[in-house]
Amino acid sequence: MRYGIGAWGLAVAVAVFALASHADPLPAGYWHQPLAPQGTAPSSWSEQERSLKPEDCGLCHADKLAEWRTSLHAKAFSPGLVGQLLSLDVEEARSCMNCHAPLAEQMAAFEAARARGKGHVPWEQGLAAAGNSCGGCHVREHRRFGPSQRDSGQAGVGSPDAPHGGVIRSTDFEKSDFCAVCHQFPQDQAINGKPLENTVVEWRASPAAAEGKTCQSCHMPGRRHLWRGIHDPDMVRSGLTAEFIADSRRARFRLTSTGVGHAFPTYVTPKVVMAGVALDAAGRPVAGTMRRHVIQRRVEVVNGEWVERFDTRLSPGETAVLDMPWPAGGRVRFWLEVHPDDFYDHDVYDGLLAGLPGKSPAARLIAEADAQAGRNRFRLFETLVSRP
Ligand code: HEC
Ligand code: HEC
Ligand code: HEC
Ligand code: HEC
Ligand code: HEC
Repeated sequence: MRYGIGAWGLAVAVAVFALASHADPLPAGYWHQPLAPQGTAPSSWSEQERSLKPEDCGLCHADKLAEWRTSLHAKAFSPGLVGQLLSLDVEEARSCMNCHAPLAEQMAAFEAARARGKGHVPWEQGLAAAGNSCGGCHVREHRRFGPSQRDSGQAGVGSPDAPHGGVIRSTDFEKSDFCAVCHQFPQDQAINGKPLENTVVEWRASPAAAEGKTCQSCHMPGRRHLWRGIHDPDMVRSGLTAEFIADSRRARFRLTSTGVGHAFPTYVTPKVVMAGVALDAAGRPVAGTMRRHVIQRRVEVVNGEWVERFDTRLSPGETAVLDMPWPAGGRVRFWLEVHPDDFYDHDVYDGLLAGLPGKSPAARLIAEADAQAGRNRFRLFETLVSRP
């Protein structure tokens, strides 16, 4: 087995999830991967209507384009991905692209660039560079699919006289299962009972699901195409409640998952650390007093097999506690350290770099991803607590 995060991707390439049946469902096989080529668009369509480029959708859907551009879905054809694709054969590369750049036209564009020796150059990658783009979620055989109409709530086939022959509206777009094809791995690939990505299963067991809140409610509020997650400090803050308690015995940091609709964090790649340090009279950290509580699902590859070391993630509603004894100075500083890409930073990229010729395009891309992964960390809830 290849050492690297890619290994999970390969194994789940053909996961297909059936969408629940009801009125106006999406066609069977809507998410069958790999997606089929679109074929030929009706000859009466303008060039913009035929185009699968997000920029062209954006000529008429400017708000969606602007929002999507700020999301990680727009950045899914990333240096960390492409740096790995360059070492894979066509089939393996396609299995990754099923989730990172899912259109058949994107796979063809990347393969063409690679055949010219330019697979690593963004402006040579054509449509592939758009990553998880409009067409992957909305377009099949050149027909546009979308959610029920915003104002009327109506589903079904819209007016064929509208641009791009109108739109086929289905409430399946509004359900959490819509995201499952890429955000939920099958149970038969479980490690210690849980697949590496288990987000939809975690969500189903959550109070959020019971209250009718879907992935879209939290990640696409007002249907906005934002998809903020663990890389966004405000999003992470919105899901948590931090409390600081000072009594005569100790200082306490309590962290509760109050607004996350799945485990915090849901993936194996981030690492979150509750940290505390004693301060001296001048307000400087006292060496040797730092205490940490790690919140993470820690997995490793040992002899080609995934193993789980520990899982201290917070389920919805769960609380983690970090206590600090009072130092002589009577003051303690607490904070939460969020490292969204810890696993890539410390396990995957270093391993990949060790196996690549130093000056190759792949090594340059992985080095770029490695540097970015390190920069993505941030702190929340930094607070000074004094003895009462
Ligand atoms: C089933 C869908 C799926 C498949 C298949 C898949 N990935 Fe991913 N990948 C994801 C998701 C979802 C994330 C985001 C995880 C997160 O939130 O950090 C991700 C994140 C990544 C990242 C870190 C973010 C970035 O873009 O730098 C890399 C690198 C990556 N994948 C590489 C690969 C490679 C290489 C393959 C194929 C061997 C692959 N992936 C296959 C879904 C997939
Ligand atoms: C020339 C302008 C134009 C272009 C280009 C265009 N659209 Fe549209 N789109 C429209 C109009 C107008 C509607 C409303 C149709 C209706 O109400 O029947 C629409 C409706 C939609 C809807 C349904 C939204 C709703 O109102 O419920 C989706 C989804 C959609 N388009 C996606 C796309 C995607 C994806 C692309 C690019 C691949 C694209 N469109 C390109 C004009 C355009
Ligand atoms: C990862 C999948 C995904 C991608 C990528 C995506 N969309 Fe969507 N889009 C959705 C979902 C899901 C909804 C419905 C959200 C809801 O009902 O809360 C939606 C809704 C829409 C709507 C209807 C909005 C409304 O107010 O009724 C339009 C128009 C649209 N998308 C256009 C686009 C365009 C243009 C792009 C690219 C710039 C794009 N989408 C990229 C999944 C996606
Ligand atoms: C009640 C709100 C809520 C719901 C429902 C929800 N999420 Fe989240 N999600 C969050 C918050 C807050 C974060 C940021 C904290 C974190 O990373 O867990 C987040 C983070 C994420 C991340 C970042 C990666 C990570 O390791 O945490 C992904 C991916 C994600 N959600 C996908 C989903 C999917 C898919 C669904 C539906 C099955 C969903 N979310 C449902 C609130 C929600
Ligand atoms: C075609 C596959 C695909 C679909 C469908 C999809 N995603 Fe994603 N999503 C990805 C990939 C791949 C990434 C990681 C992009 C990267 O960083 O390389 C991602 C990233 C995210 C993130 C950011 C995670 C972070 O680390 O901060 C969130 C949140 C998210 N997706 C939510 C959703 C929700 C909600 C839906 C359903 C409406 C959805 N996605 C549908 C493939 C998909």
